[in-house]
Amino acid sequence: MKALVTGASSGFGKLFSYELARKGYDLVIVARRKERLDKIAKDILKQYKVNVEVFQADLTEHASLQKLVENYSDIDLLVNNAGFGIVGKFIDIELERELKMIDLNIKALYFLTKKYAKTMLGKKNAGIINVASTAAFQPLPGFTTYAASKAFVLSFTEALNYEFKGAIRIMALCPGPAKTEFFNQAGVSKMKLKEMDPEKVVKAALHAFEKGRKIYIPGMANRFIVFIQRFVSNTVVMKFAAKLFYNESKHSLNLQKEER
Ligand SMILES: NC(=O)c1ccc[n+]([C@@H]2O[C@H](COP(=O)([O-])OP(=O)(O)OC[C@H]3O[C@@H](n4cnc5c(N)ncnc54)[C@H](OP(=O)(O)O)[C@@H]3O)[C@@H](O)[C@H]2O)c1
Repeated sequence: MKALVTGASSGFGKLFSYELARKGYDLVIVARRKERLDKIAKDILKQYKVNVEVFQADLTEHASLQKLVENYSDIDLLVNNAGFGIVGKFIDIELERELKMIDLNIKALYFLTKKYAKTMLGKKNAGIINVASTAAFQPLPGFTTYAASKAFVLSFTEALNYEFKGAIRIMALCPGPAKTEFFNQAGVSKMKLKEMDPEKVVKAALHAFEKGRKIYIPGMANRFIVFIQRFVSNTVVMKFAAKLFYNESKHSLNLQKEER
């Protein structure tokens, strides 16, 4: 069995790689930072008797995506994990950065799902894990485009779960905040929300996937919040989110004044 993990140089992707190697999967690990991938591959090889291949790629580039699927056509488990967020006021965020985010969070995930789903048909135990977020369940001012990109991932994956029934297992993983490089990259100076241990997230996610779940939200508190939000108007949720993200953002400090 061979797994391809995107965004494997840190956070969830790195932990997915270790955990899947522990389960006996051969790996293709993908990200931009090659030195990190090489180090991870070397360490995994030392610990587990699996084959690890490193593929350096910027997945926002179509040519890299194309090359990836050409080089590795035989994949049993695809973990579409690479992604990033940008916290700030929509009007202030640079267009090119946000387009890159859309290219990674939506287009790359869509492309790899499309290509590998075709090769997985007819395989035993083939599957896809698409990493969404609890941000997918409601609009989040201050995290607007990121939340919308994850709403795409959730909706796309849930519908595919229906379409693929019996042929390919597919699950949307929807973590809440976790201790990875994510919030620092997103431009959050100090995260006030409680962050989960990413190792717990990954272990629980693989367990849920093996059980055949279509959507998995790690952590009781996250599940509770997503459940409760069904009964609360989006306006209330957005007011809370706006306060949180505007205050947390390094980019939008001016908004704190405007909000009062
Ligand atoms: N941590 C959280 O609180 C949280 C919560 C909900 C959902 N998520 C989601 O979880 C996923 C993983 O994030 P994380 O928390 O593990 O964050 P992370 O530690 O920042 O990891 C992000 C990974 O994505 C890779 N990546 C970024 N841009 C890329 C590009 N253009 N091409 C290829 N790879 C790229 C990074 O590698 P390189 O920089 O080396 O390319 C890195 O390996 C993301 O989809 C994120 O939206 C995170």
